[in-house]
Amino acid sequence: MISTAMLNLLNDQIQKEFYSAYLYLSMKAWFAEQNLDGFANFFNVQLMEERDHALKFYNYVIHVSGKVELQAIQAPPIDFVTPLSVFEESLKHEKFVTASIYNLVNQAIEEKDHKTSAFLQWFVTEQAEEEATAESNIRKLQLIGGNTQGLFMHDAELAKRVYVPISPPLV
Ligand code: FEO
Repeated sequence: MISTAMLNLLNDQIQKEFYSAYLYLSMKAWFAEQNLDGFANFFNVQLMEERDHALKFYNYVIHVSGKVELQAIQAPPIDFVTPLSVFEESLKHEKFVTASIYNLVNQAIEEKDHKTSAFLQWFVTEQAEEEATAESNIRKLQLIGGNTQGLFMHDAELAKRVYVPISPPLV
């Protein structure tokens, strides 16, 4: 039986993952407005991955016979400054999510809840990857600076990103 403390953190995490999807949906819209369709595609894939993360937590709560308690999702920012600043905001947000996942892992370890601890390891790995992806884009955009040709080349690169459903999809 999962503890109430663990269950509350898992329900909070469902909200954070759906907010992540909402944030990236907003970033996608901003890039679409700028006619940077490759960047918009990148964030489209990103938002679908975040939805999957939320559903993975949601399904886990059901799997352990807990009660799913969906929470309100706050409005994300809608105006951004530059492509670089979007990725900087994305990295900042991912670090916030990583800290939240670590907090869940700490709780699971403290409770000797090995099942939840094992479930969370997928997210620990995923967060490392997400932060590395954001950092890589930041470094490239810093190199590109105000070079329009470089920006369009990077846009073409990001247009190639393809959504791959997470595996295993549920728990
Ligand atoms: Fe699911 Fe990017 O945190």
